[in-house]
Amino acid sequence: MKDTSIAGIGEFSGKTVTLEGWLYNRRGSKKLQFLQIRDGSGTIQAVVALADVGEELFELASGLNQEASLRVTGEVKPDDRAPSGFEMLVSGIELVADSVDYPISPKDHGVDFLLENRHLWLRSSKQHALMRIRGTLISALREFFDKEGYLLVDAPIFTPSSVEGTTTLFEVEYFGDKAYLTQSGQLYMEAAAAAHGKVYCFGPTFRAEKSKTRRHLTEFWMLEPEIAFANLDDVMEIQEQMLEFVTAKVLAKHRDELERVLERDCTPLEKVKAPFPRVHYDEAIAMLKEKGQDLEWGGDFGGEDETILTKAFDRPIFVHRFPAAIKAFYMAPDPEDLKYSLSVDCLAPEGYGEIIGGGQRADNLEYLQERIAEHNLPSGPYEWYLDLRRYGSFPHAGFGIGIERTLAWLTGRQHIRECIPFPRLMHRIQP
Ligand code: 4AD
Ligand code: MG
Repeated sequence: MKDTSIAGIGEFSGKTVTLEGWLYNRRGSKKLQFLQIRDGSGTIQAVVALADVGEELFELASGLNQEASLRVTGEVKPDDRAPSGFEMLVSGIELVADSVDYPISPKDHGVDFLLENRHLWLRSSKQHALMRIRGTLISALREFFDKEGYLLVDAPIFTPSSVEGTTTLFEVEYFGDKAYLTQSGQLYMEAAAAAHGKVYCFGPTFRAEKSKTRRHLTEFWMLEPEIAFANLDDVMEIQEQMLEFVTAKVLAKHRDELERVLERDCTPLEKVKAPFPRVHYDEAIAMLKEKGQDLEWGGDFGGEDETILTKAFDRPIFVHRFPAAIKAFYMAPDPEDLKYSLSVDCLAPEGYGEIIGGGQRADNLEYLQERIAEHNLPSGPYEWYLDLRRYGSFPHAGFGIGIERTLAWLTGRQHIRECIPFPRLMHRIQP
């Protein structure tokens, strides 16, 4: 076991400790070696002086390979220039295991090469920061719903039917029958909301996306709250409070990694404060036409449309009341005008686009049966779902927030493939 971790090294200022970790980088001269040691919690510079350690140890230090695993002993000293505020004066080094010809050198590599080596790429500083922030984002989201009195209810991954259309289903053989990997836990959360009032699920979801865009994965993580007796306006309010809360948490904990490691300008994130602008679908169409986009009423937005819309505002926006015809079968109709649905997408600023989808659910049995038929869905697998409208139907609403798209926006990444530990893309399932 180790004496301490690099993140907590400050407590040992002036003392001699042993760190266990890996060599991130090394530079030096004939008399001094500067080792960048990382242990997962942080990075520290360990200084090896020939005059202090003698020739044998100095030679060992001078020949250390990138990513060799080590035990390094030395005195902890304050250092204003170091990101951690400390450095170590080395008195002992034990090589745990060597690392010969580590494939990822500090020079630039192509992204395909890095993705091939994702199992190693995770150790690099930017990737390290992204996974730390991902962890904080997920725990902040869960903290938000836990403190607001929601119950975590886990949804199944094998499902008998589609939620978000049949074109992106992954089919699996299930004991001689067909099953699908879940596209969303929503339908199950609707059942759970009738039992518990306010619920959420969090887990992996799957879409056989045959698109190679920077916004699509075939496996992504989604958090989906569902709230009994809530309406469209309620879910917009919950979403803006949620995003304000999690953005503040991420900023409070990771400003240094965002600015120094990921080179993310944090000013736009400081503006993530409720309320967010609410834009009717019709208004959005008008704005896009004015900007010269070739889009007619009734069409869905493409990535470029979303980028244009979000660049007109300084914070996330809601686009609400999409035409019922372009939304999923479960959306409630707008009682004011049935061609619209009580749906809402939240689009992240700076061109990022949709990060949340949701709305109010159809609670009328006959309407829902018609919609299922219109979508050419087999009625059998939805009978249990229709039961929720037969036995004490209730107005309710919810949404799903995609973790990777939200993380890409918060951290300023161009592509969401770096925002999940092991991305699954149309042409990639390795490593
Ligand atoms: O808009 P979507 O498809 O909505 C649903 O699945 C609803 N059933 C959620 C609900 O109301 N409970 O997906 C929700 C979010 C998107 O806004 C996006 O952030 C993410 O999930 N998402 C994807 N992320 C990465 N790759 C993909 N292929 C994604 N598809 C959706
Ligand atoms: Mg959507």
